[in-house]
Amino acid sequence: MNIRIFEHEDDLNAAGAGIIASLLQTKPRATLGLATGSSPVGIYRHLTAMYHRNLISFAQVSTVNLDEYVGLSSDHPESYRSFMNKHLFDEVDIPLANTRVPNGNAPDLQAECAAYDRLIDDRGPVDLQLLGIGHNGHIGFNEPAESLIGGTHVVELDEQTRTANARFFDSIDDVPRQAITMGVASIMKARQILLIARGGDKADIIRRAFTGPITTACPASLLQCHPHVVVLLDREAGSRLS
Ligand code: F6R
Repeated sequence: MNIRIFEHEDDLNAAGAGIIASLLQTKPRATLGLATGSSPVGIYRHLTAMYHRNLISFAQVSTVNLDEYVGLSSDHPESYRSFMNKHLFDEVDIPLANTRVPNGNAPDLQAECAAYDRLIDDRGPVDLQLLGIGHNGHIGFNEPAESLIGGTHVVELDEQTRTANARFFDSIDDVPRQAITMGVASIMKARQILLIARGGDKADIIRRAFTGPITTACPASLLQCHPHVVVLLDREAGSRLS
């Protein structure tokens, strides 16, 4: 595992975008696994800037997103589809047909999960999976549990997760209680994983995930078993690593 700690936010974002850009330059038809939340926003901004400077193109790229809230329509401002359109897809030359986010409003959620797994298999293996990390160690929305699920599934969101994400909604009551998420097996199948974390509030979980035991009580700790993981941290998030 390659853990890098940055003094400056912009250097972290540039490093993350640089890893993705190198992949796209060597493999224009790459499949990217993408994440939402605060952590990847600066990287998407850098990628957009690189696209405008003609350094990279997304014209042949395919994407699969990690997760989506259940019960929000895709055009809801807080849906992860809206997030991706706003922060990346509408800003670059990717055909929207090449982008997939689980449909959290599907009439049959189990069928949607099965279809999403087939899609990941068809487009996969994912060349690079971008991840954030929850305060409880979740990756995607694979919340800590006695056992984890490999494939795409519907999950009950932890109250800690709903509380953390309430900042994007008018009130916590508006935060959905369920989500569709890619499972841990799908995440671990990616050829390369790039995890981003910022802020002192992530310092404890970063230490647990990458220096503690590998346990389903901290899903991100499973990444210790992956052969090609890069972790980019700001100084605060890395402050509890020795
Ligand atoms: C988002 C996702 C989540 C977030 C995590 C951290 O698609 O899968 O696992 O990466 O909750 O969120 P932020 O980056 O907002 O701290």
